[in-house]
Amino acid sequence: MPAEAGAAGVNAPVGVDPGRASIARMYDYVLGGKDHYQVDRDELERLKRVMPEVADLALENRRYLIRVCRFLAERAGIDQYLDCGSGLPTTENVHQVVQRAEGLAKVVYVDNDPVVVAHGRALLEENDRTRFIAGDIFEPKSILDHDTVRQHLDWSRPIALMFVATLHHHKGDRNRPAEIMREYVDALPSGSYVALSHLFDPGEGGDHETMAAFQEAIAKGSLGGATARTESEIRDLLPGLELVDPGIVLLANWWSDGPNLQPLNTAQRLIAGAVARKP
Ligand SMILES: C[S@@+](CC[C@H](N)C(=O)[O-])C[C@H]1O[C@@H](n2cnc3c(N)ncnc32)[C@H](O)[C@@H]1O
Repeated sequence: MPAEAGAAGVNAPVGVDPGRASIARMYDYVLGGKDHYQVDRDELERLKRVMPEVADLALENRRYLIRVCRFLAERAGIDQYLDCGSGLPTTENVHQVVQRAEGLAKVVYVDNDPVVVAHGRALLEENDRTRFIAGDIFEPKSILDHDTVRQHLDWSRPIALMFVATLHHHKGDRNRPAEIMREYVDALPSGSYVALSHLFDPGEGGDHETMAAFQEAIAKGSLGGATARTESEIRDLLPGLELVDPGIVLLANWWSDGPNLQPLNTAQRLIAGAVARKP
């Protein structure tokens, strides 16, 4: 979809409100995609006033996602993936990374953004080992009971559950994401992995203040809010799971491709993640 057609509100998929920004499209814009509207670019500019390096949240996150996929496929030997909140197809997607290591690896992508739904099936279902479903990842039962999820993945063998840069978008009860994750984890076979990333609140100091201001700015815009979590709150999202070394860390420090040549900037210090295994 040409961005300017979208900006004019023409050719927008059903369900898109061209007057409201979407996290999926803003993320696509930062990653160099073409499925974004003026309202998404404007919202990013507005957030930049609070956190000038905001684009690095997305860039650091996507680099982490790719490294995690390599780890899961190459080292952990996982060949089944449930990617909750896939985002728009971009240069490297989960199935491309994991199928490079294991050609038969299967992936089910889930997202509920109308633009992702419009493009996801066509672009993410690149081969017969990948599926895309439209669904609400914060309704675990609806995903876990979905025919495609049940039939495409073998629930008697380990599965990797990906919740990368998604849980902080849950709105409403702050405690609900931990319950949601427990429902998913309970359903996973032994030996499965969970990978997540999350907006990080260091709890005190200048970065805590910046994160508070950032959350306030998001709440005032059309995204309608996002919730950062402390390290112990992120741990609560991985119930009964064993953290894989190095545990819950800033994404830039999760098995990075080499030493950080510069000190991490504000955005890079405010997104954390972890990979954990179900015993
Ligand atoms: C920031 S993007 C992250 C994309 C990808 N996981 C990554 O890390 O590169 C968040 C994605 O989660 C999706 N999302 C947010 N809430 C969702 C929900 N309730 N159900 C399904 N998808 C959701 C958004 O549409 C968006 O595509």
